[in-house]
Amino acid sequence: MPKINIGLTEQQRQGVIDLLNKDLADAYVLLVKTKKYHWDVVGPQFRTLHQLWEEHYEKLTENIDALAERIRALGGYPVGTLEGFLQMATLKEHAGQVPTATEMVANLVQDHEQVIRNFREHVDQSGEEFHDQGTADFLTGLMEEHEEMAWMLRSFIEGQALDPSNKPSAASDTQTPVGV
Ligand SMILES: [Fe+2]
Repeated sequence: MPKINIGLTEQQRQGVIDLLNKDLADAYVLLVKTKKYHWDVVGPQFRTLHQLWEEHYEKLTENIDALAERIRALGGYPVGTLEGFLQMATLKEHAGQVPTATEMVANLVQDHEQVIRNFREHVDQSGEEFHDQGTADFLTGLMEEHEEMAWMLRSFIEGQALDPSNKPSAASDTQTPVGV
C-alpha cells in the first residue's frame, strides 16, 4: 500500500478517521429516521413535511457519501454496516412509534441539534488535536447545513414545546399507535 504523505501523522489521520466515522454513523441513522417520517407523516402539513423530508434525506445522502469518501481519502475505511452504524451513533431510533407530525418535527430538531453539537466538538478536535484543517473545514460545512435544516424544522413548531413527550395543544393531527 502506498504511503500517504500529506503532512499528517498516522495517529492524526486515525484520529480524524474515527471522528468522521462517528459522524457518518449519526448521518446514516438520521437519514433512516428522516425517511421513515417522510413515509409516515399525516395531517394538514402532509405535503410540506413530506417534501421537506425528501429534500433533507437527499442532502443527507450526499453528505454520507462525502463523509465516507473523505475517510477513504485519508486512508481509512468507512463503517458500512447497519449494525456498525447503530453501535457508533449517538442518535437513538424510536422503533415501533408513529408520532404526530408535530412530534416528528420535534424529534428531528433534537436529532439535528445533537449532530450539530457533535460536529462543533469534532471541528475543534480535528483542527486543534489532530492538526487537520481540511477535515475541520469539511465538518464546519456539514454543521452549517444541519443548522439550516434544524432551523427549517424548528420554524414549524416555533412557540410550541420542543419536548416530544409534551403533546403540543395546537396539534390537530392524530396519533396512530401501530406495532411497526
Ligand atoms: Fe418518497
